[in-house]
Amino acid sequence: MCVKEHPGTIVTLPAIVSIDEVADEAPDVKTFYLSFVDPAAGAHFAMRSGQFVMCTVFGAGEFAVSLPPSPEQDRLHITVRRAGKVTSALHALGPGDKLGVRGPFGNGFPFDEIKGRNVVYVAGGIGLIPLRSSIVHVLQHRRQFGRIVLLYGARTSRDLLYQQKIREWRQTPGFETFITLDREEPGWGGEVGFVNTLIEKANVPVDNTVAFVCGPPVMFNHVIADLLGRGMSEGAIVSTLERHMKCGIGKCQHCAIGRTLVCTDGPVYTYQQIKTLGEVI
Ligand SMILES: Cc1cc2nc3c(=O)[nH]c(=O)nc-3n(C[C@H](O)[C@H](O)[C@H](O)COP(=O)(O)OP(=O)(O)OC[C@H]3O[C@@H](n4cnc5c(N)ncnc54)[C@H](O)[C@@H]3O)c2cc1C
Ligand code: FES
Repeated sequence: MCVKEHPGTIVTLPAIVSIDEVADEAPDVKTFYLSFVDPAAGAHFAMRSGQFVMCTVFGAGEFAVSLPPSPEQDRLHITVRRAGKVTSALHALGPGDKLGVRGPFGNGFPFDEIKGRNVVYVAGGIGLIPLRSSIVHVLQHRRQFGRIVLLYGARTSRDLLYQQKIREWRQTPGFETFITLDREEPGWGGEVGFVNTLIEKANVPVDNTVAFVCGPPVMFNHVIADLLGRGMSEGAIVSTLERHMKCGIGKCQHCAIGRTLVCTDGPVYTYQQIKTLGEVI
């Protein structure tokens, strides 16, 4: 499977969105529910799962963030971890405050190429954020796919994102979920250990299967080694790369890794592509 370049839309001015509601997801992670101030801007805003937008926090700066695809668009939202200056400024905002949204940008997930296959998600910590829209898409098109398996690991139970959503997803027939915590903790009756240990426990399929993997580099390396060890091909493993973005449209070269620009060629790549980029992992 090959993730193809898809030219980003040229959008240089942000549309204004209003924060409707803020929900705490985990320590330092919040979901912001948004609506377009100008309904016409909202009507023209269409994105595919795996793409991203540049979010402006006025007076602080801009950062890249994943958005949900249609049809969840009627409840537009971003889930953001407080990482530095701009995301901290966002976390200080609340209902009624305004943000800018520029995009959508990037190539998106290759759903047309994976119809008829099993889909395995392996997420570590906030790595579930960019995978969420893919899970929603696959569940909405359930009949086009074989087994759908989510393996999710977090440091503690407080760090598990989207717990209500996961309970809802579990109602979909054939959606298998395995969750683990790094360490045992009081009241946790589930799996303990790093997320890659779930690969064997879940007996994840490798034939006719695509794996979406997202998480911190150390987790990524273990998961890739285990998936390859089970016989999965490098081209069947898909991930999204994170680089600090400036323009988002392929002009400034800020996101360049070798000859690839993550904002326009990515952020979605196969492992086969990623491993040739050298400095990434
Ligand atoms: C396509 C894409 C989608 C994303 N989706 C989400 C999402 O849905 N939710 C979410 O929470 N985050 C997401 N991110 C990450 C998010 O964009 C960053 O966390 C954000 O830029 C942080 O901005 P800041 O100013 O708050 O932090 P900064 O102060 O800029 O830095 C935050 C962290 O990044 C490190 N850093 C600083 N400069 C660089 C650099 N040039 N290259 C690499 N690391 C650097 C710092 O050391 C620090 O640890 C996404 C990133 C990309 C590229
Ligand atoms: S962010 Fe400017 S070229 Fe990618």
